[in-house]
Amino acid sequence: MNKPLRLYINVDHVATVREARRTDEPDPVRAAVLAELGGADGITVHLREDRRHIQERDVRLLLETVRTLVNLELAAEEGVLGLAGEWCPMQVTFVPESREEVTTEGGLDLDEAGGRLDEAIERMRALGIRTSLFVDPLEDAMERAAALGVDAVELHTGEYANARTPEGAAAQLGRLGTAARVARGAGLAVHAGHGLTYENAAPVAGIPEVEELNIGHSVVSRSVLVGIERAVREMKGIVEAARRQPAR
Ligand code: PXP
Repeated sequence: MNKPLRLYINVDHVATVREARRTDEPDPVRAAVLAELGGADGITVHLREDRRHIQERDVRLLLETVRTLVNLELAAEEGVLGLAGEWCPMQVTFVPESREEVTTEGGLDLDEAGGRLDEAIERMRALGIRTSLFVDPLEDAMERAAALGVDAVELHTGEYANARTPEGAAAQLGRLGTAARVARGAGLAVHAGHGLTYENAAPVAGIPEVEELNIGHSVVSRSVLVGIERAVREMKGIVEAARRQPAR
């Protein structure tokens, strides 16, 4: 039997709609309650330096209200690290961040971010916070991540999601599978996410080493049409069905 798979729902884009009018609706905190009712195993939010969607108030309220678990995505920068230290979420995922990007564009550059990350990881670990690094599915990145002492890696599924042909997607899925095995072999828990949709999530959910998926935009998009509880339930059905396939 495969390990169970956790589905974490990223509610950033509920806040994106709110911030389009700088008003108080829709509320990502209310969305999180409904996502949990739909079967979410955790709620993910990215507190960006530019605060373009999630605000500090959202994270504080989510930490008080979420019944599952909050995964806070953040850059290894003092401002957000200080807040994370104050809030002590159950899990932090370090992501790269630049102001110009539309969304997180690539995994962390562990060479460039090495020193800063090392310190940030140590700081979060000392507070008992589970740590994860968002990385491209490259074998050496798994070894580097393990050496940094994190609990988990989140494999960037963007290239898989953006593949234009079935062959391209199969090749990217192969990279994800290999990276997942190397990461597990190095003692890391394996998460995955970015660009996953109702159409492409199942094969990633079928990688036996992957134990957590982070999905945002596609579920929030569908929720505009069918409501977030149903949108989450449908995604949960897809990933659970993929998980029930026999392990290779
Ligand atoms: N994982 C990480 C590290 C991310 O930065 C994001 C986007 O915020 C996601 C997962 C979710 O990606 P998407 O919104 O494309 O599902």
